[in-house]
Amino acid sequence: MHIEIVQNYEALSSKAASIVISQLILKPDSVLGLATGSTPEGLYQHLIKKYKEGLFTFKEAISFNLDEYLGLSAEHPNSYRYYMEEQLFKYIDIKTDNIHMPDGQATSSIEECLNYEDKIKKHGGIDLQILGIGRNGHIGFNEPDVDFKKGTHVVKLDAQTIEDNARFFDSLEEVPKEAISMGIKTIMSSKKIILLASGPAKAQILYDTIYGKITPKVPASVLQLHNDVTIICDEEAGALLINKQMEEKHV
Ligand code: F6R
Repeated sequence: MHIEIVQNYEALSSKAASIVISQLILKPDSVLGLATGSTPEGLYQHLIKKYKEGLFTFKEAISFNLDEYLGLSAEHPNSYRYYMEEQLFKYIDIKTDNIHMPDGQATSSIEECLNYEDKIKKHGGIDLQILGIGRNGHIGFNEPDVDFKKGTHVVKLDAQTIEDNARFFDSLEEVPKEAISMGIKTIMSSKKIILLASGPAKAQILYDTIYGKITPKVPASVLQLHNDVTIICDEEAGALLINKQMEEKHV
């Protein structure tokens, strides 16, 4: 794992954007794995800015999002489809046909999962996957006690995830209890992964992810086994990593 501790959220967003931009300059038809949540918002802002300056284009890019709430339509303001439109897609030249998100309202969610996985494979797999991390170590919506072998599947959201995501809804009760998520197998098949973490609430889980035991109890810990992961965190999220690196220097 390559770890980059940068000063603040702005530097994190800018560093992540430069990795995505160089990916698209070198391979314009890259398959990007995208995340939602608060953490990648700054990255998307940077991408929009550099795209508008003419540095690169999304014309040939293909995207697959990590997850979608079960039961929410694409037009629902809390759906991840809506989020992606508002945070990124409506400002760039990605083709609508090249955008892929699990359909939270599919008649058969099981079939939707299989089709989604199939589509990723048909595009040759994900070239660059962007991840955030939950306070409980989830990546995508792969919650603690995850089965590492699973591809895209229906997941039950952890109580902590429901609580954490309630900030986007009017009440805790409105947060969907299930979602469709790429599985650990899907994520681990990506050629390159960037995990972003910002703020003090992520410090302990980031430490456990990098230095802890590889265990389904900390889903992100599986990333220790991937051969091309870059972790970009700000000083707050990286606080315990800084201590660890100092200790190692003094041994
Ligand atoms: C989002 C996703 C989640 C988030 C995680 C962190 O598509 O799959 O794993 O990345 O919950 O969320 P934030 O960034 O809001 O702290």
